[in-house]
Amino acid sequence: MSKLRVGLLFGGRSVEHEVSIASAGSIFRALDPTRYEVHLVAIDQDGRWHLAPPALPPQASIAGAEVQLPAVPGRAALVPVDAGDARPVTELDVVFPIVHGRGGEDGALQGLLELAGVAYVGSGVLGSAIQMDKEVSKRLLCAAGLPLLPWQLVTARELERDPAGAAARVLDALPLPVFVKPANLGSSVGIHRVREAGGLPDALRDAARYDAKLLVEQGIPARDLEVALLGDDPVEASVVGEIRTQREFYDYEAKYVDEDTELLVPAPIDDAVAEELRAAAIRAYHALEGRGLARVDFLMHRDTGEFYVNEMNSLPGFTDGSMYPRLFEASGVPYPALLDRLIELALEWHRRQSRLETLYRR
Ligand SMILES: Nc1ncnc2c1ncn2[C@@H]1O[C@H](COP(=O)(O)OP(=O)(O)O)[C@@H](O)[C@H]1O
Ligand SMILES: [Mg+2]
Repeated sequence: MSKLRVGLLFGGRSVEHEVSIASAGSIFRALDPTRYEVHLVAIDQDGRWHLAPPALPPQASIAGAEVQLPAVPGRAALVPVDAGDARPVTELDVVFPIVHGRGGEDGALQGLLELAGVAYVGSGVLGSAIQMDKEVSKRLLCAAGLPLLPWQLVTARELERDPAGAAARVLDALPLPVFVKPANLGSSVGIHRVREAGGLPDALRDAARYDAKLLVEQGIPARDLEVALLGDDPVEASVVGEIRTQREFYDYEAKYVDEDTELLVPAPIDDAVAEELRAAAIRAYHALEGRGLARVDFLMHRDTGEFYVNEMNSLPGFTDGSMYPRLFEASGVPYPALLDRLIELALEWHRRQSRLETLYRR
């Protein structure tokens, strides 16, 4: 049996570039070399693609020759950018895009993969775009009847026009403390917890450095609980995990710097509550057009025990120590089997899509 040719895409123009490299490293090491021929493609901070020479780890790929994926259906192949480059094209059967953040996780890359006609792991254009945008997500989750913390939208335009008015409107609608967030980002970058009214304008200004759309949300004393999802129909929900940090909230340092951030798998919660969270996670997955995989994150009020959907991530962190793989490991799906399953799902979806009529035959 010939090996399946997998393009492992990682890096990208985002604050999560390094995280993505770490995820790609774990995936690369775990993909069974007897089944897969893996081609590593690093996307640099300028958005250019580099194909690694065979058998080198992801960190080395950035030095590889520059390639592109032409948006031409029929043959998904990486071709050298330099016309004089005599290197052969690299054909792919499936792409595993483990690129976080804008340009990778927001549907843009998925759009290119669609146009190139290649199977790929994870949500499609629509699902990726929706899940990336915390504000659109909220509207859809709200329509699906899922529990959410109250929020207000502030646009960068509004902030430029009338900063005091924007802050006053928000404070009128929400009790303090509040969380200010860029709508389309991750890794807690640009997120502020605001305790006093006077701190809101600065927080809004800072968040506006990252996005034209900001979210202000009622803040609660919260536990961070997460559920991993796998599959399309049926979709499988993992055990629930919890993140514990010594910090005020799960910020950038807690995610990537602190040594004492704990991932509890499974979370110490009642079985009945865990079941409710899993059911809510599946509903969120459907509401936000999830495909292949996603992680749904919840906030649980420390005093009342009530829970709220916080956000959904279409391409969660994927190092072997990350929450997503650990949740499935604890649910009976070891890391290499998880990768096999994700690739199978991508191929299966692609086969289904390829069978759809593109002509109207009367
Ligand atoms: N409304 C809130 N109340 C309490 N804590 C919050 C709230 N919103 C976010 N947080 C904390 O901030 C962290 C990061 O926020 P989140 O919306 O998940 O952004 P990101 O997409 O960057 O992960 C959460 O994991 C949680 O610890
Ligand atoms: Mg988060």
